[in-house]
Amino acid sequence: MRNPIHLSKCLTVYAAATLLLFGCSNSLTSRAPSQAAVASAHPTATAAGLEVLSAGGNAFDAAVAVSATLAVVEPYSSGIGGGGFWLLHRARDAHQVMVDGRETAPLAAHRDMYLDEAGAVRPGLSVDGALAAGIPGEPAALVHIAKKYGELPLAHSLAPAIRAARDGFAVTTHYQRMAKFRLQALRQSADAAAVFLKDGQVPPTDFMIRQSALADTLQQLADKGRDGFYAGAVAEQLISGVKSAGGIWSQKDLSSYKVIEREVLVGEFRNYRITTAPPPSSGGVALLTMLNVLSGFEFESLPEVERVHLTVEAMRRAYRDRAQYLGDSDFVEVPVQLLTSADYAAGLRAGIHPQSATPSDLLPGPQTIPGGQHTTHFSVIDRQGNRVAATLSINYPFGAGFVVPGTGVLLNDEMDDFSAKPGTPNVYGLVGAEANAIAPGKRMLSSMSPTFVESDERLAILGTPGGSRIITMVLHGILAFVEGGDATAIVTTPRYHHQYLPDVIQHETGALSNDTKADLQLKGHQLKEVESGFGNMQAVVWDKTRNVVSAASDPRGEGVAQVK
Ligand code: GLY
Repeated sequence: MRNPIHLSKCLTVYAAATLLLFGCSNSLTSRAPSQAAVASAHPTATAAGLEVLSAGGNAFDAAVAVSATLAVVEPYSSGIGGGGFWLLHRARDAHQVMVDGRETAPLAAHRDMYLDEAGAVRPGLSVDGALAAGIPGEPAALVHIAKKYGELPLAHSLAPAIRAARDGFAVTTHYQRMAKFRLQALRQSADAAAVFLKDGQVPPTDFMIRQSALADTLQQLADKGRDGFYAGAVAEQLISGVKSAGGIWSQKDLSSYKVIEREVLVGEFRNYRITTAPPPSSGGVALLTMLNVLSGFEFESLPEVERVHLTVEAMRRAYRDRAQYLGDSDFVEVPVQLLTSADYAAGLRAGIHPQSATPSDLLPGPQTIPGGQHTTHFSVIDRQGNRVAATLSINYPFGAGFVVPGTGVLLNDEMDDFSAKPGTPNVYGLVGAEANAIAPGKRMLSSMSPTFVESDERLAILGTPGGSRIITMVLHGILAFVEGGDATAIVTTPRYHHQYLPDVIQHETGALSNDTKADLQLKGHQLKEVESGFGNMQAVVWDKTRNVVSAASDPRGEGVAQVK
């Protein structure tokens, strides 16, 4: 069998092949979608994307508008104090790239910065407050995308976000849950408490959150581009605010922050091309490993218990490798080719016992683990066929819980995505290896996995938040689509997850039948029900044969998907 997965080393060859594919595709398939669509985690952000598309913007302008608006209306998920990955497909030349706006460790950061004198991790230091924050990448990424790929001025695409910051948005029950969860951290920061709480308490529903300082900072970005955030008055406020709160940022950190255009990872599964995120995301590598393992099984026709067993065993092995080998590939050697190769998958497959679970402690490696409802995702397509899948984060809900005085910028706590002490769990119990140790200027490992799934006839644009469960949720979404499901099936499919350690299948209520659960236990699996469900997937689907675009927002969240 030929190697189904390869790193897209040569985008020009890939682009040419794709053009050929569509150029020669039979007359039953369409070259450009009949409609545009946006699916995001918040109605105001979806409206912002559609507004910009209606004004003549393309999918990339819409992506800038949606990202910036999510930064305002979902402060617990992403922000201009954070970062993300934007997976782009430009229709005119089939150019595909991942814009990496991931945060970096400050230049004064060092490997043991969160350890005490005895070498133990100091709890909370990489989670709450200014020392937990990496150098933000989202502002630079938005400027980059608008300038290189957009058709409208940056100021035009940022206008809906600035408006939302000034006019405010209404507190929902989801906002309340997130604010309650981070109440202590938010109370520690005067500016955070003033904006996100009411009299030091979680605000009531429908209370309006207005962010005039953030609106001013976004306006600086709109007026001055990159220099509106990484230089001048805003940068000075950021540095002095961070330093006075115990952080270690410098002007050099801000001036030297670089957006990186990364070659996408491309694989194949059941005649679908999978385009996904390379390191410093661990998502693409793990996804392709799991799909390669599953591609050798006729698992679609198997009873549910066999199918879940094989999928879980693929997850277990991919997550073991994630913990062992993945990190920022600009700093450490990541064996991407090996981990995503067919031969490697064949070896993993051979080690799977059809009747019994492999105890994770028989697969040597460091531990790893779950995540929550932080982070956000959106999917966009325009009528030219340009598309964006973007997953953005400030890490924990409300990030570090710290708003830099005078700027309205809520800082990320993405430093916790590093291994503070290789072998010791982070706030989610995540334990990594040397590959993800802290180093100055290094990007911390991520699970964010924006993905395209495409055949001659159909395309899906998808992704989700959810910490380390992101990758298995995207796997479920891919499998649902490849088996013929539509956008709604992608976002609603029941979810279960295994991540090597703890050695347990986490599953949503109702995701597995009672018979399947009993049979899985007989095979040696342990099960844990996660009652609240997990993830908030946003999907856009283009049926090229009928030329119909559809979109769906996860019913577990409060997002909106719209086709126009
Ligand atoms: N902070 C979540 C992630 O990057 O995976």
